[in-house]
Amino acid sequence: DHIQAYFEKYFSVQKPLDSQKWLITAGPTYEAIDPVRFIGNHSSGKMGVALAEHAAENGAEVFLISGPGTPKADHKFIQQVYVQSAEEMYQACVVHFDACDVAILAAAVADYTPEIVADQKIKKKAGDFSIDLKPAKDILKHLGSVKTSQKLIGFALETNNEIENAKKKIVSKNLDLVVLNSLQDAGAGFGYDTNKITLIDAQNNITTFELKTKLKVAEDIINAIIKL
Ligand code: CTP
Repeated sequence: DHIQAYFEKYFSVQKPLDSQKWLITAGPTYEAIDPVRFIGNHSSGKMGVALAEHAAENGAEVFLISGPGTPKADHKFIQQVYVQSAEEMYQACVVHFDACDVAILAAAVADYTPEIVADQKIKKKAGDFSIDLKPAKDILKHLGSVKTSQKLIGFALETNNEIENAKKKIVSKNLDLVVLNSLQDAGAGFGYDTNKITLIDAQNNITTFELKTKLKVAEDIINAIIKL
């Protein structure tokens, strides 16, 4: 199938992202507490999959690093790998980042992870219970600190001071573009099939978009990256 796919690509009409390698992350991470429990979030992974499928349709070879529950991507040029934790997602990204032209980190990665993962299921006891957390690897920040010619795109999900917070992320994580979602917009954010985004580039150019399906949003994001 792969050989046939490559021949089809070789003989097909030129596409804007031919010969490009893209790295995309999608979905949540699960940080284990014990063998049966984890800390997670409500990310569906739909935005990352839509980005991967649209980039592949435009000719890119895509490595899609997916958190648990992310839907299966449907394209011959997408290599989808499933991971669980922020640490596993970090390891997978580091392997592919060097060779890629564009990296879009759309995953909702945990900021904190349990300091100790219990070997056995933790039993209920009387009284309160607490878990010590340590910072998880910040994948986007790490890639921003080692990037050479790659274009690096991050997401920012904000509830207040959206534009200011997103601009800060461009600087602190050395990004070329940030995709801002505001939880104040109806129909945007986790779980929906729609999204409403604002794009901010490293020169502080701001472009706002209407509420659209995640597939249409993926088109807008990819068109902006092609312009970059
Ligand atoms: N991200 C990441 N690794 C993490 C946390 C986040 O790669 N451990 C990436 C996400 O994929 C996203 C971007 O960073 O592209 C923004 O994530 P967010 O959690 O909003 O930003 P933080 O810098 O963690 O700041 P805060 O949570 O305080 O807004």
